[in-house]
Formats: sequence, C-alpha cells, structure tokens
Amino acid sequence: MIVFITGISSGFGLETAKLLSLEGHTVYGTVRREVDPLPQVRYLQLDVLDGEAVKNAVDEIVEKEGHIDVLVNNAGMGIGGPLEFATEDEIRLQMGTNFMGLVHCVDAVLPHMRKQGSGKIIALSSIGGLMGLPFQGFYSASKFAIEGYCEALSLEVKQQRVKVVVLRPGDFSTGFTGSRKKVANEAALQAYPIYKTAIEKVEHDENGGLKPIVLAKKISKIIQMKHPRNGYVVASFEQKLSVLLKRILPAKWFARILGSYYKLS
Ligand SMILES: NC(=O)c1ccc[n+]([C@@H]2O[C@H](COP(=O)([O-])OP(=O)(O)OC[C@H]3O[C@@H](n4cnc5c(N)ncnc54)[C@H](OP(=O)(O)O)[C@@H]3O)[C@@H](O)[C@H]2O)c1
Repeated sequence: MIVFITGISSGFGLETAKLLSLEGHTVYGTVRREVDPLPQVRYLQLDVLDGEAVKNAVDEIVEKEGHIDVLVNNAGMGIGGPLEFATEDEIRLQMGTNFMGLVHCVDAVLPHMRKQGSGKIIALSSIGGLMGLPFQGFYSASKFAIEGYCEALSLEVKQQRVKVVVLRPGDFSTGFTGSRKKVANEAALQAYPIYKTAIEKVEHDENGGLKPIVLAKKISKIIQMKHPRNGYVVASFEQKLSVLLKRILPAKWFARILGSYYKLS
C-alpha cells in the first residue's frame, strides 16, 4: 500500500515508517531536519504548519504512484505549563501543529481518496484527548479538537468509503518528552507550586512508558484490517482503566482521582 506518514524523524513516526517499509508497503514520510535515512523510505521535507507544502507533497505522491491508500497523521508536539502562562505564540504552535497539521493533511489526501472511493486516515490523538490533563491543557485541547474533528469527518466520508481511525496512546517513551516546550518562568512556578511535581510525574511516566514499536504494530494491523474500529486506546492496563473510569464515573469523582494522581492538593 501507499502510505504517507508525517513526522518520521523520531518516536512513533520513525518506528512506523521502519515497520511498514519492512512489511513491503511504499512509505513516504515527512521530516523537518537531517536524519539518517531508512532504506526503502521516501523522504519529503516539510512542516505540517504549511498547508501548501503538504498539498504539494501529497499531489507528488499521487502523481508518482497513481493513488494514496493511507495517511498516518503523526507529527505533533506538546507544551507544558499552567494554562494561564502560555503565550499566544505557544498556543498557536500547539493548535497549529497538532490540529491544523491534521486538517492540512486531510485536506490534501481527501480529494484523491474520494476519487478512488477508498482510503484510511489514521490520526494520532492521545489519552489526553479524552481527559483534560493538568499542566498540559493546550495539548489536551489540541487532541480534543482532533477527536471532535475526526468524529465528524468519519461520518462525512463514510459514503466515499474512506475510513477514519483515531489512535489514543497512553505514555510512551519517545522524543516527545524531550521536545516538550515547558513554561519555566519564575512567575508561573510561584503562582502554581504544584506544577513542578506534576510535570515531573508526567515526564517520569513518559520516560518509563511503552516502546513506540507497540504503536507501530497497531498501525500495521489497522492498515490490514477491512473493518477497523473508529478508535483505539493503546496504553498500559492502568491507563486503559483511567479511560474507562473517565467514561463511567461522575465527573467530580474522576477529577479527584486525577488530582490525587498528579498530587495537586
Ligand atoms: N509519546 C507519547 O507518550 C504520546 C502519547 C500520546 C500521543 N502522542 C502523539 O504521538 C505523535 C507522535 O509523537 P512521538 O511521541 O512520536 O514524539 P516525537 O518522538 O517527538 O516525534 C514527533 C514527530 O513529529 C514531528 N513534528 C513536530 N512538529 C512538526 C511540524 N510542525 N511539522 C512536521 N513535523 C513535525 C517531529 O519532527 P522534528 O524531529 O523535526 O521535531 C517528529 O518527527 C504526536 O502527535 C503526539 O502528540 C505521543
């Protein structure tokens, strides 16, 4: 199959590009910087903030291959810190990369997938797209946006036989933690003394999280499936449990559990 993956310089993108190319798929992956190239993978240089560049890249793939089967919208980043202290530029970068990046990719692949009457759009959300994570509020907001957008999109494109699948990983050990843009100014730390321990807990959990190959294997399975579900949580047992509790418990109870987990009181 012809697969287009955004953000293959590290983490999920890198593992997925590696695995899918080994499995014989034709993989086109995007990067923004110099990387050690994987054999068999075709590299495209672009930033997902640039809608025009994304469209040109996808059109180029279709011109060469005749069609495009799968979009894996993976590129993403996170900002950490008290919501109150995030700057407008940081918020725009967060929503621009994670949400508008997806919109750019979907807008680029859909005309081709509609024409073909087939295609799969796999979007990386997060467990943070199902619950508002303290001190990762704008990250959560960007993933909630993805959830709402994909829910609507899957209904709109169903008749065109395009399938939308949302992936919600829990904690994984990737480049994500190191790339997080953290609000670290004195004023923020003074106003929210609980922020420091909460973000340390987040980083500790991510560093000890699952290996990205677990998610790459899930993506590989979804690509093969005729009728994948609309969404999957890919996480440890405890994190899957937290998603279930969020769904079934009264909001007040769940907030108490989350607050105590992050030592917010
Ligand atoms: N790791 C986790 O625990 C976790 C959990 C839930 C969801 N996720 C989601 O999984 C996805 C992949 O993250 P990861 O964990 O694999 O992190 P990662 O190792 O930091 O990889 C992120 C990738 O996205 C690329 N990227 C970032 N901004 C971009 C932009 N504006 N344009 C193009 N590429 C861009 C990065 O490229 P550069 O190298 O150039 O920065 C990198 O290739 C993200 O959407 C993230 O939100 C991760």
